[in-house]
Amino acid sequence: MRAPRGTQDILPGTSEKWQFVERKLMDICHRYNYKEIRTPIFEHTELFQRGVGDTTDIVQKEMYTFEDRGGRSITLRPEGTASTVRSFVQNKLFGLPNQPTKLFYIGPMFRYERPQQGRLRQFVQFGIEALGSNDPSIDAEVMGLAMNAYEELGLKSLTLVMNSLGDKDSREAHKQALVDHFSPHREELCADCQVRLGQNPLRVLDCKKDKDHPAMADAPSILDYLNDESRSYFEKVKAHLDRMGIEYVIDPNLVRGLDYYNHTAFEIMSRAEGFGAITTLSGGGRYNGLVEDIGGPETSGIGFALSIERLLMALEAEGVVLPIEEALDCYIVSLGEKAEEASVRLTHQLRQAGVQVDKDYLQRKMKGQFKSADRLNAKYVVVLGDREIEQNAVSVKDMETGQQEELPLEEVAEFLKKQLAGGKD
Ligand code: HAM
Repeated sequence: MRAPRGTQDILPGTSEKWQFVERKLMDICHRYNYKEIRTPIFEHTELFQRGVGDTTDIVQKEMYTFEDRGGRSITLRPEGTASTVRSFVQNKLFGLPNQPTKLFYIGPMFRYERPQQGRLRQFVQFGIEALGSNDPSIDAEVMGLAMNAYEELGLKSLTLVMNSLGDKDSREAHKQALVDHFSPHREELCADCQVRLGQNPLRVLDCKKDKDHPAMADAPSILDYLNDESRSYFEKVKAHLDRMGIEYVIDPNLVRGLDYYNHTAFEIMSRAEGFGAITTLSGGGRYNGLVEDIGGPETSGIGFALSIERLLMALEAEGVVLPIEEALDCYIVSLGEKAEEASVRLTHQLRQAGVQVDKDYLQRKMKGQFKSADRLNAKYVVVLGDREIEQNAVSVKDMETGQQEELPLEEVAEFLKKQLAGGKD
């Protein structure tokens, strides 16, 4: 049996990297005052149809949708924003005194895509959502958090690409311009784009098949259709980023693959050689109006999401080695029946005292046990023999220096704790 296509097992050796990265992301959220939200992995299909948008690839082609035994249409979440907004509305978080509501999540998402490096059918997204503020400084905060997260993990070759999709009026004007521009070429566009032209012409700009069509190059830019309010909002976001010293590039063709965006839209790309064909590390933007679409009060929102898979790929491409310690604090070697019995007790006591300990479970000889200790990179080895038990004195060996101490059994925990806390790594 093999795992389904587009999924992967994260095994020891790699799972430590996941834990490290996830802890770092949570630590950053703590600093920026974003609190964790956990929502169900499946939702009513309608949520994503309304939230992500009927004309998107995600909803049209990529959702894992099934009917449950009660005849309801259920979908494995393809992203986290719609669920977060649903929960915000359902739990009336908008009524809490502390606004904006700043949330983060980490969890698996599901999209039926063609798997390749950096594109899986089950992947883990870390994302943040700030709901209830229409202040350009929070747009800058979200992009700042995203860039900081990557940089603190050691990435350097990053580009923040940004665009404004404007408000509703600006988008309507731009939409019309796109229809006028592409209609004469309608027959030359792919079948999907012919439909998109009627339903959601912005999606044409995002088409993978038609991206080299000559009409793409001089397609009307949204930036030429922003009304005064949208333009001024965008200018303020840019000014805040300048103040924070965050560099960015404006790309008027950045439209994003989800329908809920307006005003600020952004992606962070990797420029690292060897990162592969997919260069987008993360994406996000503003989604004023989504809360209302999902049945809540008028509330503005902005957020972004990254996948841990692509983050780890980027770290690898840039040769960043995460500071993950692969050592064991203590290994207990025992010889003889009484010693083995004592080792069961000591192992338990040391663990209760907060020391990381392991022992032999395969009745290895002394030499084999020392070998195990070596393989596990043990910092200390406690040796228990029947003689030691009789004399209530065990030997504790510092594996780095080779130094050995004889100690009464009951002092081992304190001794190890002191040594391990002593700044020796
Ligand atoms: P998205 O651009 O669809 O946006 O996905 C965000 C990130 O998730 C991507 O940049 C990529 O890192 C990762 N990702 C997406 N699909 C895959 C895949 N098949 N395999 C591996 N990684 C993938 C959203 O999902 C929005 N909800 C982001 C957002 C939050 N906007 C506002 N708030």
